[in-house]
Amino acid sequence: MSSKKIYSQVQNELADLGKVSMLRVIPDVEDGASRELLFKGERLLNLASNDYLGLASDENLREAAVKAINKYGCGAAASRLVTGNFGLYDELEQEIANFKEQDDAILFASGYAANLSIMDSFADRRSVVFSDKLNHASIIDGIKMSGARQVRYHHNDISHLKMRIESFRDVKSKILITDTIFSMDGDLAYIEEVADLCDFYEVMLIVDEAHAEGVFGGGKGLCFERKVSERVDLHMGAFSKAFGSLGGAASGNKDLMAYLRNKGRSFVFSTALPPAVVGANLAALRLVKDDSSRGTKLLEISRELKTFLQSEGFDCANSASQIIPVILGENEKALEAQKILMNAGLYVAAIRPPTVPKNTARLRLSLRADLTANDLAKIKNGFVKLKKELA
Ligand SMILES: Cc1ncc(COP(=O)(O)O)c(C=O)c1O
Repeated sequence: MSSKKIYSQVQNELADLGKVSMLRVIPDVEDGASRELLFKGERLLNLASNDYLGLASDENLREAAVKAINKYGCGAAASRLVTGNFGLYDELEQEIANFKEQDDAILFASGYAANLSIMDSFADRRSVVFSDKLNHASIIDGIKMSGARQVRYHHNDISHLKMRIESFRDVKSKILITDTIFSMDGDLAYIEEVADLCDFYEVMLIVDEAHAEGVFGGGKGLCFERKVSERVDLHMGAFSKAFGSLGGAASGNKDLMAYLRNKGRSFVFSTALPPAVVGANLAALRLVKDDSSRGTKLLEISRELKTFLQSEGFDCANSASQIIPVILGENEKALEAQKILMNAGLYVAAIRPPTVPKNTARLRLSLRADLTANDLAKIKNGFVKLKKELA
């Protein structure tokens, strides 16, 4: 090994992570976007992916991707602003805007890239950004990149948020950003109350609907369901979850979108998504637009399962979506629980700090609309077994 200091430093840090069960390794998973994945050669029911509607393997998406490759080839070969544009791209953005009932939309390489550009474009050193404590890492990173003052408020705590906004009420550039479904807790933002405060204090409101689109509000997201859509200044979404593909999107007022096309660094300085992905996104969006029943069914399944888990004494926090956490506390306990469920034929993610706060290590169930009655019975039996073995 090289004698340069960085090598021993890295080795020590990796060893430290290992000691507290926080070392991440890529699991030996195949077919990870399928209803049943392969883990070390064994088929397990997949309760860990974000393919909520089962669209990642849908025939329509596959065909659309192949058609796009046949027409345009495999790569976009440049940023959209240079030569990386093609008709499908414009079509997709137009359809996103229509679906979300907004003036215009812009597509990014991922949800992560979208949040970086959104925050970096609209906030700067003179801005203050109010951010829910449990917002996704991409939002936090975007705020850091912008140089704005980040003011975090307690999770879903409207009176704390009000206090925070009050103390910065004289700042000219005020922005609030919140997930609408929180990715590790599966609970929902109090979006009506948040919108009220933003209207009153003239705060720009940005929402991240990555986990809500495709599921809530006929697929249009939680803001649409709660009828606050027009009060939101900028809507962010992702094709990587319920839409079964890849890419992030922003939609809203046409000038805000034009601004993002000029200022969004991950848009300007990065190669456009490949045609196959854009073709698949378009097919996924059309499927959801034409039939939103998958999302409705998914929420019914989720309610049933959460009620069952709570009746067995599990702590599912305030989940009200297809994401159901089972909070266990210590890292080791979450890993042990994951193993027990594997023996029952279930693959569930064990989530540990720093992804979630210390001492709240958990299982994170992310359910899918294509689960059958037999699957649900299997999940329930698995958790009954888990309760016995953990006790
Ligand atoms: C709330 C939220 N926003 C943004 C992202 C990033 O999206 P992507 O995976 O498409 O980069 C995620 C991904 O997990 C997320 O949970």
